Amino acid sequence: MRIIDLRSDTMTQPTDAMRQAMATAKVGDDVFGEDPTINRLEEMAAERLGKEAALYVTSGTMGNLVSLMAHCGRGDEIILGSQAHTFRAEQGGSAALAGIHPWTIPNQPDGTLALEDIKFAIRGDDIHFPRTRLIILENTHNGCNGCPLDADYMKAVREIANRHKLKIHVDGARFFNAAVALGADPNKLAAEADSVSFCLSKGLAAPVGSVICGTQDFIANARRARKVVGGGMRQAGILAAAGIVALNEMVDRLAEDHANAKKLAMGLAQIPGISIDPNQIHTNIIFFEVNREDMTQQEFVQQIDAAGVRMLPLGPKKIRAVTHYHITSEDIDQALDVISKVMK
Ligand SMILES: Cc1ncc(COP(=O)(O)O)c(C=O)c1O
Repeated sequence: MRIIDLRSDTMTQPTDAMRQAMATAKVGDDVFGEDPTINRLEEMAAERLGKEAALYVTSGTMGNLVSLMAHCGRGDEIILGSQAHTFRAEQGGSAALAGIHPWTIPNQPDGTLALEDIKFAIRGDDIHFPRTRLIILENTHNGCNGCPLDADYMKAVREIANRHKLKIHVDGARFFNAAVALGADPNKLAAEADSVSFCLSKGLAAPVGSVICGTQDFIANARRARKVVGGGMRQAGILAAAGIVALNEMVDRLAEDHANAKKLAMGLAQIPGISIDPNQIHTNIIFFEVNREDMTQQEFVQQIDAAGVRMLPLGPKKIRAVTHYHITSEDIDQALDVISKVMK
């Protein structure tokens, strides 16, 4: 039975071109700055996002952590959404390891933070308060239906940040999904951010790694932070080689994943007992609810799993499905067929 695995775009396997590039990659000691493949990946990433410099890190979690460590000192405060991955799902690492204090404000359904909420959360100069240093945005927003945040919104947040001398970090685990969905130049979409992290190992299908981009100074600080959390790698060009292929070959095709997600959402909306608004789906992540008295969301997931379709139960009624490189339009037909039968 073919398994249609919609749990996450992290399920993607490296392509043949990636495996080939990995086998032949020229490598060196990256802690000495001497891995030519990592250096090339970092140059490419910085150029794509219009930033001075970039740093290859092991994961999205490490990318966010070392970015926060580079922007903030102990006791500084960050403003971020209550649905932000950095807040929800990174073990509170910035607090636990770097002494950074979070102020969360609600995410709007489209993944943004209301500008008024951001303004309200910025601390005044008072001996009782931590110092606000950084605003964190997530683009696309995983927990908010994979919504992309556009350049106009970024500009509006930048104005607030400038007024209060704050930095902006974008957790862009799926930054290229946002750029493709919006038809935006990644360079322009990143322009208002001081730093952006993006993942190579999600929709772009590389096996390992993320990249953070920013100014030379920021990257120098992030490089120090990466070392202290044990992320100084040696001949990791063997991994970065797949990242170069990912950037060259896997970005434009993300549009297929978005079309498949939309198709899935529209099909699900037709199935009695399932709640979803397909108009909210813009990229490769969809959330829907199973509203059946006689079936828990766990039972739903188990039953579709038995028929070869995998999805992730998240929250009391919510199920998440994520399209990616290994999911075809026919797979979506098959998944809808399975779900229709389970819901009968
Ligand atoms: C928005 C977002 N940020 C960060 C991460 C963390 O990435 P990693 O799993 O590579 O640490 C994820 C992972 O799913 C994510 O969705």
